[in-house]
Amino acid sequence: MKTILQATDLTRHYEVGQGFLSKGHTVKALNGVSFSLASGKTLAVVGESGCGKSTLARQLTLIESPTSGSLVLDGQDIASATAAQRKAMRAKVQMVFQNPYASLNPRSKIGTQLSDPLAINTSLNAKEREERVRLMMSKVGLRPEHYHRYPHMFSGGQRQRIAIARAMILNPKIVIADEPTSALDVSIQAQVLNLFMDLQAEFNTTYVFISHNLSVVEHVANDVMVMYLGRAVEISSKTTLYAQPLHPYTKALLSATPTIHPEDRQIKIKIMGELPSPLNPPSGCAFHKRCPFADARCQQEEPQLRTLGNTQVACHHVERIN
Ligand SMILES: Nc1ncnc2c1ncn2[C@@H]1O[C@H](COP(=O)(O)OP(=O)(O)OP(=O)(O)O)[C@@H](O)[C@H]1O
Ligand SMILES: [Mg+2]
Repeated sequence: MKTILQATDLTRHYEVGQGFLSKGHTVKALNGVSFSLASGKTLAVVGESGCGKSTLARQLTLIESPTSGSLVLDGQDIASATAAQRKAMRAKVQMVFQNPYASLNPRSKIGTQLSDPLAINTSLNAKEREERVRLMMSKVGLRPEHYHRYPHMFSGGQRQRIAIARAMILNPKIVIADEPTSALDVSIQAQVLNLFMDLQAEFNTTYVFISHNLSVVEHVANDVMVMYLGRAVEISSKTTLYAQPLHPYTKALLSATPTIHPEDRQIKIKIMGELPSPLNPPSGCAFHKRCPFADARCQQEEPQLRTLGNTQVACHHVERIN
């Protein structure tokens, strides 16, 4: 299986509160995440609000530069890329955001918004661009007359279709979707998810699908990465993860999702307390304060991801608790 993207020890810290007299603090939003993306597949990224999912997305789309760590995209290391290469790499990774209205220009017609990336990144002439745009519009379920309309004339679901068309128009290798359905009516969510899957089947696009909704993830993912406080705590195939979650945090997340095969799960784990702040993360295992299995070792020693069967998991006590 071809790897389209390899992230190694990807880290993004933010300096906040720096002033004349104050030293400031470091928010460790992303704290050494390593994973590979299999070409044409969907990796779902799950975890509580604030665990670093969108920060990860901003590194993968090259909107930001990581504080440290490496990113190899389609065989090319970001760190050694020239400006021209970076531009080409940017076109290979596109993004779909949670709120389609905020990501569209209210003053520009849909046809124009979809055609702009082609004008910037390809040598297609105006007529060819319009043909490409109209074809993509039909693929995402928009009608020909929508070409001359403005974003406010569409429903939320239709706007997300426009945002998806714009992400797909350059035929990217990877699309990062950050909570793409969580702002939509439940009745529309399934349609948009199915659209994502149809487009993947047709164009072999690789997806990174960020969601806190484990039912959605079960629907779309091939693989799942569970994040906690800027780190990956478990990476596995979807089938394995849902059938046999190994990390206490993954178990807890699945326990909190009532719709997914409750009969299969004997142990119910409740997450205690709040997600700690990435300004001041706990020592040792970041999850230890909320973990029912934590002991002295977990307070001191940070567990690294290690391979167990087909799963990578970061917990000192996996063998004991499973
Ligand atoms: N530009 C920034 N400056 C300072 N702190 C930031 C910045 N961006 C993100 N953070 C902090 O980094 C942490 C991770 O944020 P991030 O937005 O990546 O989380 P998330 O998993 O996407 O959360 P959500 O599910 O709510 O979207 C948070 O504590 C956030 O406050
Ligand atoms: Mg986010």
